[in-house]
Amino acid sequence: MEKISLYKYEYACKMLETELQILLEEFKRKHGYSPVEHFKARIKSMDSIEKKLRKKGYELTEENIEKYVSDVVGVRLVVSFLSDVYDIVSSITRATNILIKKRKDYIKEPKDSGYTSYHIIVLVPIYLEGYVEYITAEIQVRTVAMDFWATLEHKIRYKFPDVIPDEVKASLENAAIDVHELDEKMYEMNKIMTKYEQEKK
Ligand code: GTP
Ligand code: MG
Repeated sequence: MEKISLYKYEYACKMLETELQILLEEFKRKHGYSPVEHFKARIKSMDSIEKKLRKKGYELTEENIEKYVSDVVGVRLVVSFLSDVYDIVSSITRATNILIKKRKDYIKEPKDSGYTSYHIIVLVPIYLEGYVEYITAEIQVRTVAMDFWATLEHKIRYKFPDVIPDEVKASLENAAIDVHELDEKMYEMNKIMTKYEQEKK
């Protein structure tokens, strides 16, 4: 059996984490506040990689990982307000060292489960001896409210992955709608207070 190594993904993870840390510091310097509640970069475990490949009908090989698993390197950026999601996404879009491969706005178009977040699939350059390689990574940007829903929904679903009653499915979807409404309320309040603060100056 082929010996699988994830070292290139480890490099890419470090590159992307550093790149985003600087981008967020720049954001803070320019806007005068930090929108970040949590920030986490991780490498997918070999177990999860294998599970994902098997589910898609592929064997665990380096080639298949490269072709079919886009989130071996994953970053989750949890921010305060709905507007922060789009501001951070546009900063990432403008970053010269991160190439955008695909965007998925699950806030505008939630998944069937009710899941919302903004996903960006990117290519991260890693600098090896004498050449550059581009490694695929997934960046998830979401608000704390979306993160709350996704974390708990995952916990609820994880217990019985195959048999979620329709009733629970519907409740989860409704909870996601409530979460979105809360996000909009918090955004509006923040907008009012920001305006108030500016007028005082
Ligand atoms: P997969 O990672 O195989 O699902 O690839 P995909 O192309 O379908 O990616 P997608 O953008 O749908 O989702 C990727 C990631 O988003 C998952 O690994 C989860 O972290 C998150 N995600 C997507 N759907 C859900 C959901 O219904 N609930 C929760 N809690 N997380 C989700
Ligand atoms: Mg999926």
